[in-house]
Amino acid sequence: MNVVVIGATGTIGTAVTAALRERGHHVVPVSRTSEIQLDIAHPDRLFSTVPNLDAVVCCAASGALVPIDAGTDEEFLTGLETKLLGQVRLLRRAVEHLPDGGSITLTAGTFAAPTPGSAFGALTNQGLEAFVRVAAAELPRGLRANVISPGWVGDDATPADVVAAAYVRAVEDPTLNGQTLGRPT
Ligand SMILES: NC(=O)c1ccc[n+]([C@@H]2O[C@H](COP(=O)([O-])OP(=O)(O)OC[C@H]3O[C@@H](n4cnc5c(N)ncnc54)[C@H](OP(=O)(O)O)[C@@H]3O)[C@@H](O)[C@H]2O)c1
Repeated sequence: MNVVVIGATGTIGTAVTAALRERGHHVVPVSRTSEIQLDIAHPDRLFSTVPNLDAVVCCAASGALVPIDAGTDEEFLTGLETKLLGQVRLLRRAVEHLPDGGSITLTAGTFAAPTPGSAFGALTNQGLEAFVRVAAAELPRGLRANVISPGWVGDDATPADVVAAAYVRAVEDPTLNGQTLGRPT
């Protein structure tokens, strides 16, 4: 498959790009600073810039961890236009452009317990999970959408290659639609 990975230079995106390539897919890496540049806040130009895509994977952007009683509203809501609304817009554009049976895989995240600064992250992550679960039921033409919701990723947490395997499943398994995958066990 021809797959775009948005956020391909990040911790998760690097592992996802490698895992998809290992499976024989052609991966187009994209981020704000890569050769093909895209800001997820404005995903409209993706499909004219990268034609003939079968699958879209987004593991870009995040929110800031600002405690509920700190910072400005703008600082607290960092990530609204990118991680939350950017991925919503991306799914809607993908529905217009992907071929029949194409897939969209977004990224949320899981906080094991409330920690200072995690409230906006929880709103974003659970909003994305709910959005994908319900939007998936409306998708036309056999299109599929899923979301990956890992816990902390790293050497002393969930290894990036374990998380990447969930993205590969979402791209390859035609039975997966509306699912949240990759939650920590
Ligand atoms: N790492 C974790 O422990 C963890 C756990 C759960 C969920 N997550 C979620 O997984 C996603 C990726 O996390 P990560 O740790 O891999 O992040 P990361 O290492 O900081 O990498 C972020 C990637 O996204 C790109 N990016 C950032 N803002 C962007 C934008 N506005 N438009 C397009 N690309 C953008 C970055 O490249 P450029 O700077 O070149 O744009 C980079 O490739 C985030 O949504 C994060 O919240 C991460």
